[in-house]
Amino acid sequence: MKITNYGHSCFLIETQGHRLLFDPFISPNDMAKNIDIAAIKVDYMLVSHAHFDHLYDVESIGKQCGAKVISNWEIIEWYKKKGIEGHPMSHGGKWKFDFGTVWCTTAVHSSSFEDGSYGGHPCGFIIHNSEGTLYFAGDTALTFDMKLFPMLYPKIDLAILPIGDNFTMDSKAAALAAEFINCDRIIGCHYDTFGFIKIDADQAKSDFSTQGKELTLLPIGQSMDL
Ligand code: NI
Ligand code: MN
Repeated sequence: MKITNYGHSCFLIETQGHRLLFDPFISPNDMAKNIDIAAIKVDYMLVSHAHFDHLYDVESIGKQCGAKVISNWEIIEWYKKKGIEGHPMSHGGKWKFDFGTVWCTTAVHSSSFEDGSYGGHPCGFIIHNSEGTLYFAGDTALTFDMKLFPMLYPKIDLAILPIGDNFTMDSKAAALAAEFINCDRIIGCHYDTFGFIKIDADQAKSDFSTQGKELTLLPIGQSMDL
């Protein structure tokens, strides 16, 4: 699996000839202005919840490349009315897609569309295939449920966790989340995009190293391998 950071919580995962985009929010993000959104071609968009900073570009990308959405029931119905097809899931469930198995995990947050419409429950995703296992947490607090992950899912090789505080976990809680899910390699997300979530990068890294975990703050536009 190859992971590319498109800023905020938006990541491209390339795996087994398939391209997955998580939480598309690029065009309104000043920090991601060098990403050419018109060139993005993906097979699936995995959307954690209905807040604008996680799905702003779903419609344009969906229309430009025919990508399918994987998300909760309410978000799938929302995009179906706009002519974009999808696959609905909910917490605790899994489904075998052509690129691998996806589990839909709990996230403690909220989820409404920009106009106030109900956006279903927020979630995260675990992606598993023969190349490895990746956890994308979405916007969430630290939850005790994360302790169940090692009992329920394949060993997580890499996790994308929010660390920006205010709306989600801070880096100290996220380092504990890494411990709960038994994962040593973490990519941080949901930080620095706007005023409420500015972080001290050195402090964040030391919060993780205290737990014996490695935090990567992947520059926008850059990639790494699982
Ligand atoms: Ni949110
Ligand atoms: Mn958010």
